[in-house]
Amino acid sequence: MQTYKIAAIPADGIGPEVIAAGLQALEALERREGTFKLDVTHFDWGSDYYKRTGAMMPADGTQQLKGFDAIFFGAVGAPDVPDHITLWGLRLPICQGFDQYANVRPTKILPGIVSPLAGVKPGDLDWVIVRENSEGEYSGHGGRAHRGLPEEVGTEVAIFTRVGVTRIMRYAFRLAQSRPRKFLTVVTKSNAQRFGMVMWDEIAAEVSAEFPDVTWDKMLVDAMTVRMTLKPQSLDTIVATNLHADILSDLAGALAGSLGVAPTANIDPERRFPSMFEPIHGSAFDITGKGIANPVATFWTAAQMLEHLGQPQAARRLMHAVETVTGSGVTTPDVGGTANTQQVTEAVCEAIRGSNIVL
Ligand code: NAI
Ligand code: MG
Repeated sequence: MQTYKIAAIPADGIGPEVIAAGLQALEALERREGTFKLDVTHFDWGSDYYKRTGAMMPADGTQQLKGFDAIFFGAVGAPDVPDHITLWGLRLPICQGFDQYANVRPTKILPGIVSPLAGVKPGDLDWVIVRENSEGEYSGHGGRAHRGLPEEVGTEVAIFTRVGVTRIMRYAFRLAQSRPRKFLTVVTKSNAQRFGMVMWDEIAAEVSAEFPDVTWDKMLVDAMTVRMTLKPQSLDTIVATNLHADILSDLAGALAGSLGVAPTANIDPERRFPSMFEPIHGSAFDITGKGIANPVATFWTAAQMLEHLGQPQAARRLMHAVETVTGSGVTTPDVGGTANTQQVTEAVCEAIRGSNIVL
């Protein structure tokens, strides 16, 4: 019996609601599979912790997390705390401190969920977006001078390194190679940004030589939004910078029906540190406490976590249960249903318990 140490950080808003749902499904899987155990430790870090202590997590927060096998994360963000404090106080220090340089965002249209794109059905949109997660436009490099004066300046410098670009490109080519279509689209903006982005294009071409069985093409990020919307079938695996992929994956989530179904994994591919698994959505103040948060994104990221931990059968069983439940119409209001979080969660747990298929 394999035991995995999981750090649960539900944090703010609907984070605690969806993480509780995710843990319930994981417990059902634990019992159904009988091959692994999850030893879960809860951390109360986040905006309430910030209001009490002046910090989103303790100074030795990442030290405390180091010994875990994975981090199961809800969302940060509170109406009365500035977003750059919540983000840079908790989520980004974990991503950067643990060098989780590959942010992996699968998107597909689940059964029973209607895409806002006319005529696009399950199977027509099945993508994985790989976002560079350690540098680029979110490297934190920049500053402000002459604050408050008319001549104030603010700089936000995008940093692209050969090491950083090469490793994310290899990760993306390898992931594309593992999928049936073996097809990668490299997104940049190398017409307008002549240095870092041209280097991305060059490194993509270099790394592609290591993957002769992967077909690849290039897109400018603006044209990519058009292709995602008008020709979703023409895409499979996608790699882009931190900023570009952040934006494109919100679009992908919306095209797949709702942000409430979109998961993400912050991976350290070298496994030096724990990787972090979370829904893409934020803390959703508008629905906090109403019990209607869609738990599907969190189930899906839990499946990514099981996959990463080395439990692919449990991951497949979880996704199969989720697809059975969405396909049967048990869904939350954001995707047109009438069920609440708990009803969807119970239905998924029931599907896990009743699942006899060999996956
Ligand atoms: P949001 O993702 O929290 O919400 C956007 C919209 O989607 C809202 O109408 C919300 O009700 C809906 N939504 C999101 N998740 C849902 C779910 N599971 N089920 C049903 N509906 C769902 O983004 P917003 O409103 O821009 O940001 C709110 C706070 O969250 C801000 O403080 C923001 O900084 C933070 N945020 C944090 C993220 C994170 O922790 N990774 C990511 C995005 C935003
Ligand atoms: Mg985002």
